[in-house]
Amino acid sequence: MKRIEAGVTRPAPIAITIDGAAVQVHPGETLAVAVLAVSRRFRDDRAGQARGMFCNMGTCSECTVWVARDDGAWRRLRACLIPVEPGMQVRTRPPQPAPEAMT
Ligand code: FES
Repeated sequence: MKRIEAGVTRPAPIAITIDGAAVQVHPGETLAVAVLAVSRRFRDDRAGQARGMFCNMGTCSECTVWVARDDGAWRRLRACLIPVEPGMQVRTRPPQPAPEAMT
């Protein structure tokens, strides 16, 4: 169901990247909203079944994602607590280390 309130406007969308795909999101939204909009899948359990977010308030960690930092390292964060920022690079799976980092 799409609900639009009269007189309510949204800021212009910004671009972020989720699992390598460009995604348009609105400032003020959380990363959890962005992930839900594109995949509804945050991670897999040990049996390979998809898991979604649960609490939406930073308690359960079911919404864990990885966000690239300015220095190129990845930081593990709870998506339901993090507001989107232009240019964010987000992954729903743990980033693989660069081959040179494994030697
Ligand atoms: S959904 Fe529970 S910590 Fe984000």
